[in-house]
Amino acid sequence: MIETEEKLLDESRQGEAIERYSQGPGSNGRKVYIESYGCQMNFSDSEIVASILEKEGYETTKLMQEADIVFVNTCSIREKAEQTVRKRLQSFHQVKKKKPEMIIGVLGCMAERMKAKLLDEEKLVDLVVGPDAYRNLPDLVNEVDGGRKAVNVILSKEETYGDISPVRLGGNGVTAFVSITRGCDNMCTFCVVPFTRGRERSRDPETIVEEVKQLAENGYKEVTLLGQNVDSYLWYGGGPKKEFDKLSEEEQKRSVNFAQLMELVAQVDRKVRIRFSTSHPKDMTDDVLHVMAKHDNICKYIHLPFQSGNSRVLELMNRGYTREWYLNRVEAIKRIIPDCAISADIIAGFCSETEEEHQDTLSLMEEVKYHFSYMFKYSERPNTLAQRKFEDDVPEADKQRRLSEIIALQQKHSHEQLKKDIGKTYEVLVEGVSKKSDQELYGRNTHNSVVVFPRKNYKAGDYVMVKVHDCTSATLMGEAIA
Ligand code: SAH
Ligand code: SF4
Ligand code: F3S
Repeated sequence: MIETEEKLLDESRQGEAIERYSQGPGSNGRKVYIESYGCQMNFSDSEIVASILEKEGYETTKLMQEADIVFVNTCSIREKAEQTVRKRLQSFHQVKKKKPEMIIGVLGCMAERMKAKLLDEEKLVDLVVGPDAYRNLPDLVNEVDGGRKAVNVILSKEETYGDISPVRLGGNGVTAFVSITRGCDNMCTFCVVPFTRGRERSRDPETIVEEVKQLAENGYKEVTLLGQNVDSYLWYGGGPKKEFDKLSEEEQKRSVNFAQLMELVAQVDRKVRIRFSTSHPKDMTDDVLHVMAKHDNICKYIHLPFQSGNSRVLELMNRGYTREWYLNRVEAIKRIIPDCAISADIIAGFCSETEEEHQDTLSLMEEVKYHFSYMFKYSERPNTLAQRKFEDDVPEADKQRRLSEIIALQQKHSHEQLKKDIGKTYEVLVEGVSKKSDQELYGRNTHNSVVVFPRKNYKAGDYVMVKVHDCTSATLMGEAIA
């Protein structure tokens, strides 16, 4: 499957996806409509927001028209993501002109990046709340009720919302996200996330296991553990990220790393599949790969962004690895988990990237043969290191052509990888009815590949053995076998 900025096929992934949802009874008579953009983390945060508000008696609605409060949970990752949100805010602003009592709030990464500017200069909204301030939302709404504009964009070194049980919204009742870390300390030079999400911190493993148990009890069959860099998960009692060897003896003893967390989560319920995202090449250990190999219910799929295939560009990006290191990690995956699908994020046309360096990206793709990639043109973001230190000097036409070459190659590789599955049988977790025909269901196999097959008497949430007989570059087609 292919994803680009222009074409977002899989709405559950990083990108400019939109989701609207409704849930639960309320008691204060006010309805909240939330629209989410950006990565899975943002969608997961909207569920935390809904939970905080429902406790205060608000009801969520999927109809903007009946909402008393409209929240837009925003993304700043690329300029285009912000433009999409801005257009949306303008259209809500038009609605508000006819319905002045309606409150409009901006949540998430753009709230954090723009701060009070969204209130003062653009005057589009009443409320601006950053990703670490959601517990404050009910009070902030009260402030707006009192005739004031409200802002809280304070970032925290401790907040993980670990004790909050998210209200599952707009989902299929089968798959759910569980956040395990917040923030990011990596400072990749192109990336806005460390500024919008603050310092990295890990969530208490007990609360993670508890949340997975609850999901299992409620019939969920798949859990995706979320973090900007799941491999650097390290619980030592709470607080900002520390390296293991910087912990006290006491902290080391009670510490839990990502491999250990995966063990704990995999054991909650063997019928619940585990996925995780995103893996970082500089931190992914063999221990994690061995835990994956050991547990049947951990899906054999790793999202391992490489961004560029050239070591000089990787250095400029401050990614913390070279091309050789990255390929060594891929080799480790193939050795320890022979049948593991790998996907990537790729950036075309980063500052000063030459034609030869772009060729290195294509040749790395040839070496790894990804099942899937998310591919982007470099988009300069205000205040990032790249914006301050480097010139965004690859001409737009070159960026576009390089991206097109990357997309074409990925399409070829996706097709080649899926063709290898023809004749094989996979366990597929059914997620719902196919968009193209109500006589067909769709689900995913362990590789995260979408599989479509005739419905018969199967339903969402079933595990079905499906024999693959055909494919496109994005989808496997098959038949359930008894
Ligand atoms: N934490 C994840 C990525 C989060 S952002 C990781 O490190 O892998 C998702 C993807 O958006 C990144 O992997 C990168 O490919 C892309 N991205 C981030 N900033 C970008 C920018 N300024 N321009 C273009 N793409 C960007
Ligand atoms: Fe951004 Fe890098 Fe952190 Fe990913 S690891 S969120 S790309 S800074
Ligand atoms: Fe976007 Fe923020 Fe996620 S910038 S990609 S919503 S962490």
